Amino acid sequence: MPSDPKAWFAHDRFGMFIHWGLYTLHADAEWHWSYNEVDREEYFKYLDYFDPDLYDPREWARLARKAGMTHMTLTAKHHDGFCLWPSQHSEFTVTKTPHGKDLIGPFVEACRAEGLKVGLYYSLIDWHHRDFGIDIFHPMRNIEDPEGYNAGCDVARYQAFMKAQVRELLENYGRIDHLFMDFSYPDQIYRGLPGKGRDYWDSANLIALVRELQPDIIVNNRMDLTDVAADFYTPECFIPNARPTRNGEPVLFEAAFNTNEAWQHKRTGTQPKSPHQLLQTLIDMIAMGGNLLMNVGPTARGDIDAENTAALKAYEEWFARHERAIRGCGHSTFDAPFGCRLTQNGNRLYIHLYNWPYRHLYVKGLGGKVAYAQLLDDASEITWLPPGRQVRGEGEGLRGLDPVAMPDDLLILELPVAKPGAVIPVIELFLKD
Ligand code: GLC
Repeated sequence: MPSDPKAWFAHDRFGMFIHWGLYTLHADAEWHWSYNEVDREEYFKYLDYFDPDLYDPREWARLARKAGMTHMTLTAKHHDGFCLWPSQHSEFTVTKTPHGKDLIGPFVEACRAEGLKVGLYYSLIDWHHRDFGIDIFHPMRNIEDPEGYNAGCDVARYQAFMKAQVRELLENYGRIDHLFMDFSYPDQIYRGLPGKGRDYWDSANLIALVRELQPDIIVNNRMDLTDVAADFYTPECFIPNARPTRNGEPVLFEAAFNTNEAWQHKRTGTQPKSPHQLLQTLIDMIAMGGNLLMNVGPTARGDIDAENTAALKAYEEWFARHERAIRGCGHSTFDAPFGCRLTQNGNRLYIHLYNWPYRHLYVKGLGGKVAYAQLLDDASEITWLPPGRQVRGEGEGLRGLDPVAMPDDLLILELPVAKPGAVIPVIELFLKD
């Protein structure tokens, strides 16, 4: 049987997102040009100073691999239009900077050298391009005569430009595994200026080109092709309330999150997530049947800052002992006990305990179904009470009250009082066949 070349995605579950570009010099927001309606010439000054002398993508890849991630997806071009590769179709590229040379080639090689899958992010939006019309997000949205400016935009030429750039990225670097196209907003109108979606991008032909150039690539859903299924969907910085479905069927999704509420490196004012939150975000996604794409924003010198390194370290430490509760796992149809999440891989069921309960964990529906249980951290046995047995102290303490129902399918695990060392401990259940 030929193996599915896309199967890695739903198996591996965890990747690194990297936001890095000209905007990194401003060290605040990758939307700086738009948020602050910066004058074009003023924004272009960064070209003269972009010189990432500490760029070492092999180190990024090592950090990612140790953190448990199996692919890295880098912003080859973000909304400002600046290209990290020497695109032949733009004058706004790394070639114009002191660094002067391709940054994508070394990135791709570094991924492969560390055994990671290669991902690229390509912005459909391009504020620097003259044929990209003014709209709600454009840095020039408040000029006097946006219609006049837009009359000078040739949309067909813009579409051809995008295809030519996508071709460069997908033809010149060997196999690309993961593609994140960003983004569409057809319904957002500003001063009468329409938003942009599948018609503006010529999405149907764009995706056809992507698939022709890289038949095994995994592509996301942000091209506004609602009638065609994407390979994966992309909730952003929120945990869905339920498993996402399309026509009633669960879909593959990969939630994009950041370690500190910022996509790009920020000098100050970040809101770093605690190790517990970082792990919880990952586990929540897998428990819901999805993946996590966790972002870091390297500095303008090219290295990953201390805050992001610490976040990756939190994953690394936990992953070293809990990988099998994530990799190859997915959603479980059993009900998670209070304060817990479940992931499952065949007859191995993993209970991730966000709160460590006092002495007993009540698990509905699993009584009689478990052959063995252990704490994953150190493979120490976890026992359970025989069916129907009351927990110690219950007889005396609740004497005279209504008896508490103890259904046969209730599993009562006996836990040590002290919470074990892992930030989020995991109990591994071996289910009976
Ligand atoms: C949004 C933002 C963008 C970021 C992306 C990550 O679309 O525009 O800045 O790159 O989300 O998912």
